[in-house]
Amino acid sequence: AGGVKLAPSLLACDFTRLGEELASIAGADYAHVDVMDGLFVPNISFGLPILSAARRATDLFLDVHLMIERPERYLRDFAEAGADGLTVHVEATPHLHRAVQTVRELGKRAGVTLNPGTPLEAVRPVLGDVDLVLVMSVNPGFGGQKFIPASVERIRTLRRWLDEIGSEAELEVDGGVTPDNARLLQGAGATVLVAGSSVFGPDGATAGLSRLREALA
Ligand code: DX5
Ligand code: ZN
Repeated sequence: AGGVKLAPSLLACDFTRLGEELASIAGADYAHVDVMDGLFVPNISFGLPILSAARRATDLFLDVHLMIERPERYLRDFAEAGADGLTVHVEATPHLHRAVQTVRELGKRAGVTLNPGTPLEAVRPVLGDVDLVLVMSVNPGFGGQKFIPASVERIRTLRRWLDEIGSEAELEVDGGVTPDNARLLQGAGATVLVAGSSVFGPDGATAGLSRLREALA
């Protein structure tokens, strides 16, 4: 898909068929795993047992998005449960640099992310220390929300900042991604697209994934 990686979000899958759902996205680049604690975000999704079940079911890169307060408390547990990458919110920890460093010390890919209302400046101090920057294009907590258009300019700005420091970090976007805006996001400089409801539709995730790829081709 023109070099852009696709990361279906398991939040939108059928959990009674987790193994099959993972098999149906075997052609994806990452499986995106949304962990919510009911505190950082107003919803609870799932945690360590589901991550380790996913780990047993797939060889896909597990891209874990931690929407939890003080993620540093659980980084080791998520690493041991099978995460390949761990992304923390800048709003959730007073020690962002320490958190991303811990992820790298655990041998995992370190990501940082921020809510749509948080100034981009908040992630700037750690741009040189991360392997992935995630731009939230909805307020985190739920799947199926509408893409916030101002996110496009935020992706462009982060693209420029990463290029300026010669970073090869992935630039990921999450929330309201569909075949209709995928190309625009690619053009703005995103390298990974997360998609939940637009992939796990009624006709199955394999078809959903193809529609996204076609939109990028
Ligand atoms: C939202 C999650 C997203 C969500 C995306 O809090 O971080 O990963 O699953 O779902 P869609 O693609 O339906 O917006
Ligand atoms: Zn997510």
